[in-house]
Amino acid sequence: MNRKKIAVIFGTRPDTIKMAPIILELQKNAEYFDVLTIATAQHRQMLDQVLEVFKIKPNYDLDIMAPKQTLASLTAKIITGIDEVLEKEKPDMVLVQGDTSTTCIGSLAAFYRQIPVGHIEAGLRTNDKANPFPEEINRRITGCITDLHFAPTNTSRKSLLLENVDPKTIFVTGNTVVDALKYSVIEKYQFTIPILNEIADKKKKVVLVTMHRRENWGKPMEGAASAIKRLAQKFPDFRFIFPMHLNPIVREAVKPILKNMPNVFLIEPLDYLDFVNLMAKSYLILTDSGGVQEEGPHFGVPILVLRYVTERPDAVDYGTVKLVGLEEETIYTAALKLIEDEEEYKKMANAVNPYGDGLSSFRTIKIIKNYFGFSNEVVDEFIPR
Ligand code: UD1
Ligand code: UDP
Repeated sequence: MNRKKIAVIFGTRPDTIKMAPIILELQKNAEYFDVLTIATAQHRQMLDQVLEVFKIKPNYDLDIMAPKQTLASLTAKIITGIDEVLEKEKPDMVLVQGDTSTTCIGSLAAFYRQIPVGHIEAGLRTNDKANPFPEEINRRITGCITDLHFAPTNTSRKSLLLENVDPKTIFVTGNTVVDALKYSVIEKYQFTIPILNEIADKKKKVVLVTMHRRENWGKPMEGAASAIKRLAQKFPDFRFIFPMHLNPIVREAVKPILKNMPNVFLIEPLDYLDFVNLMAKSYLILTDSGGVQEEGPHFGVPILVLRYVTERPDAVDYGTVKLVGLEEETIYTAALKLIEDEEEYKKMANAVNPYGDGLSSFRTIKIIKNYFGFSNEVVDEFIPR
């Protein structure tokens, strides 16, 4: 049999977490596929944390991260770095995930070499090019180039159809973020950070916070941080855990407002296992993260999303997630309502995950097998239950 070489490109924390189940599934299908892993290392420490958890040793590591680097410099380094690998390795297909610069420029590099592209997590749209920035456009550019669109939900499929994408190239697979969770959440988990074990042992209510989005840098982030400060003052018995993104711009916005609060823990990014196991034990999550929004519903933890628009409307429709924007007053009021109104809280704590059932990578690899003529199986689509 003529095995196919599949190049899998990733480089940041989220695209690597979501690509890991795809890599593992490709490796299980070694009689069909030779897997080539290419890390741009757009992130460094935050990428290495994930690689360690999933025991992935990239075949190529472009090591491009530089402090506070611009989008243009990132783009230039990714395209030249990946092109060199593609020229040497000549893969039969390139897989990219999501909406980062690694995703968009990785797909462009493949297009220039006329290599077919599979896009994992295709079709998420806000139709607002400023939100999320630059991810909305990154994802759309990737979509223009893509040959196989792996849409996590039917909503994403519909968005692709509205852009006249050939329906035969779209497959609703669910999101691999849920597959990753299945490797990672353990009932009696021991955290690597002692304070988290202490908080878990004392059964304190945990409010988990993350923020990093570019369009929220500066004033919007400060607004959200001020709301968290007020909540922490109002609920001294709650523990606010804020693993800060390594981007110095994020830290410059939140530290001056939240430092010195006895019940706010501004900590380093947690490794993925610590993070998801902490999510499982959280009472409430405040976040502008895409991935965290998709994971929260799995645990039935209500999420207030620190954004004005979302390309992930499914959980909002299911009622497990609420968009609250970045105004201090709106965030504070929405959180207060949830904390003080038990019925409202219960309504949101609904453990149906509209994003996946843990079988997304399995479906995806079957579809790729069909694409190369290795099989001709009907692949059942993901339907939320
Ligand atoms: C990137 C993605 C964004 C994704 C986010 C997930 C782009 C344009 N942005 O945003 O879509 O949601 O990752 O976290 O692709 N840094 C470190 N160490 C790290 C990681 C980052 O020091 O391990 C610092 C560096 O100063 C770096 C800066 O953070 O220059 C920004 O990193 P970058 O990848 O450009 O953007 P993010 O905001 O992380
Ligand atoms: N995450 C992590 N450690 C942290 C915060 C988040 O491992 O301290 C994981 C989280 O479980 C999710 C992903 O990182 O899978 C989300 O990444 P991020 O918020 O950086 O990016 P986005 O999803 O917004 O693109």
